[in-house]
Amino acid sequence: MELNRETIPQYLREHQPEIGFFDKDTELHVEEIGDGNLNFVYRVYDAAQPDRSLVLKQAPPYIKILGPDYPLPPERLTFESRSLDIYNQLASETVPTQYYFDSDAAIIVMEDLKGYCLLRDELIAGLVNQTIPEQIGRFMGRVHSQTYAYILDNSAVDKYRQDFANTAMQSITADYVFTFPFMEHETNFYTDGLETKVDQLKSDESFRQQADMLKSIFLGVQRGVTHGDLHTGSIMVNGENAKVIDSEFAFYGPVAFDVGLFWANYLLSYFSHTDNSDVQLKLKTAIIKTWEAYTEAFEMDPSLKFRILHDVFHESIGFAGMEMLRRIIGAAHVKDIENIENVQRKLRVEIAILEFGQTLVKDRNIIFNVGEMVELL
Ligand SMILES: Nc1ncnc2c1ncn2[C@@H]1O[C@H](COP(=O)(O)OP(=O)(O)OP(=O)(O)O)[C@@H](O)[C@H]1O
Ligand SMILES: [Mg+2]
Repeated sequence: MELNRETIPQYLREHQPEIGFFDKDTELHVEEIGDGNLNFVYRVYDAAQPDRSLVLKQAPPYIKILGPDYPLPPERLTFESRSLDIYNQLASETVPTQYYFDSDAAIIVMEDLKGYCLLRDELIAGLVNQTIPEQIGRFMGRVHSQTYAYILDNSAVDKYRQDFANTAMQSITADYVFTFPFMEHETNFYTDGLETKVDQLKSDESFRQQADMLKSIFLGVQRGVTHGDLHTGSIMVNGENAKVIDSEFAFYGPVAFDVGLFWANYLLSYFSHTDNSDVQLKLKTAIIKTWEAYTEAFEMDPSLKFRILHDVFHESIGFAGMEMLRRIIGAAHVKDIENIENVQRKLRVEIAILEFGQTLVKDRNIIFNVGEMVELL
């Protein structure tokens, strides 16, 4: 059952007893707001009081922008819903409230984040707020540590593994982050002039070894509830407040993948602002603050904590490098870089990103702290 603007009011009326929110006789207006690729996202509001609104997200059994010939399991919303439940238990201030989940129709009804915009758009505009990385660091630290395998009994870990066995989405990430960008593949594309650099990357043995190792960590390590797609387009902000959305890739995995993606997208922003040293300095500070807030919120016995964070740190650096590289040469690019109009400048920025990403992957075990990482910039 695929909903559309016309059928959504009826759906909400039928499910009014479970969802609540609007009265049955409220006149509802619907607008499509989803700018994403995979799913349909709508805002529904009371025609008489437009500020009374909610958001409805539906996953069709295919990739929205490509159509029914490109199947994708709608169960992805089950994983988004389960992770939203956990986030609401552990860090409710950093996620939208979930009002209702319909697993048969793959629909989540949730709080409308009114007045919020995507963090990526703020960073593109050069607006770098230091409380945002603190909040995201705290969010990750809490969720990761409180779902961490070492501190739970076996049955709790097994339950997380089962509840978050999101293998279809995990294997898409494995392909698009760790595999396709580094081989000849039809989905890759990049700026003319990058060929030599890309070839050099592909033939760098030590890079390939580390990339393979990171891929096997990504696929094999099961340590904590991982968002799986925590880039700056999966975070909405309003002034000092940050909310994490779009956790359909959530899985029980190497938590460092979240830290790495978040850092990588701040780093991509850093390289996009080559002409603004003030913004760049703030982005460096934000990267450091993320880690400080993360480690502070990571609740664990001190001896265990030290060992775990040591591993998480070095893996995060590697994952950050992989994410930076794939955003330049793989299928999914980022606006921060694509927006650069001057082709020569874009090429210079992209070469710098490829070099930095390659360094992070290769040197991830000899970079000892976050300050050292940003000093490499
Ligand atoms: N709770 C919400 N409140 C307000 N706006 C929202 C909310 N959830 C999503 N949006 C808006 O809808 C857009 C798409 O949402 P989301 O990223 O969850 O969809 P998606 O189809 O899974 O995207 P992608 O293709 O990136 O995976 C977001 O970028 C945001 O602008
Ligand atoms: Mg999504």
